Amino acid sequence: MLNDIIKMIPIYVMGRKYEVPRGLTIQKALEFSGYMLKRGCGCRGGVCGACVTVYRKKGDYKINVGLACQTVVEPDMDLVQLPYTSANKALYTIKNTPLTDSNIIRLYPELLKCMGCNACTKSCPMDLEVMSYVSAAIRGDFAKVVELSMECIMCGMCAARCPAELSPFNIALLIRRMYGKHVIPPAPHLKQRLTEIAEDKFKDEIEKLKASDKPELETRYRELQATRGAAVAEMTA
Ligand code: SF4
Ligand code: SF4
Ligand code: FES
Repeated sequence: MLNDIIKMIPIYVMGRKYEVPRGLTIQKALEFSGYMLKRGCGCRGGVCGACVTVYRKKGDYKINVGLACQTVVEPDMDLVQLPYTSANKALYTIKNTPLTDSNIIRLYPELLKCMGCNACTKSCPMDLEVMSYVSAAIRGDFAKVVELSMECIMCGMCAARCPAELSPFNIALLIRRMYGKHVIPPAPHLKQRLTEIAEDKFKDEIEKLKASDKPELETRYRELQATRGAAVAEMTA
């Protein structure tokens, strides 16, 4: 009967067939099919990287990768969720680890085994140029690594597909951390904000918020949203 009102489409989850409404994301289709997502589900907004899913489309040999919270189901999609990817992660103390070629290779010697196959780039649900940032790491162009990997959501798919057993996302994370700690100068506004926090500048405001009841908080929230909306409209005018 649901089929009369909403267009239902078949999908396969780990080989089992379900009928779900057209237009749902994979995540919502899984829940519609009765799955309770305890693992493999976090922010629901394309940021945390917990919901990576591999799938095939009907009649297509290719294995695709997508975020379950962002990818819309298609008829006869065959889905497998990967709530966790095992990947090597080096241990280090960032303040004692300056950004040098030798430190990167000491912590991740497997970096030099990259064979340039590009499987990492093809598997990235964020469409990042993973092989390019791995190559940049090998030639010591760390600013490029930071630039190309900044939107990584740590889903781990690049490591899962890498035949040379690299964990590109952990290597890029190390380089971003080293770059932030040892290369770029501290942001003046951050220093100022840390001083303000240390001086308890926001204490009264926080106490006021904690003492507010629900209607007061709702009013403040609406005012804040209106102020933000006006600021965005001004910026985009
Ligand atoms: S670079 Fe790797 S870990 Fe980061 S989003 Fe892409 S596939 Fe996921
Ligand atoms: S999948 Fe691994 S070996 Fe292939 S290009 Fe990416 S990092 Fe290099
Ligand atoms: S649930 Fe966080 S990226 Fe999908």
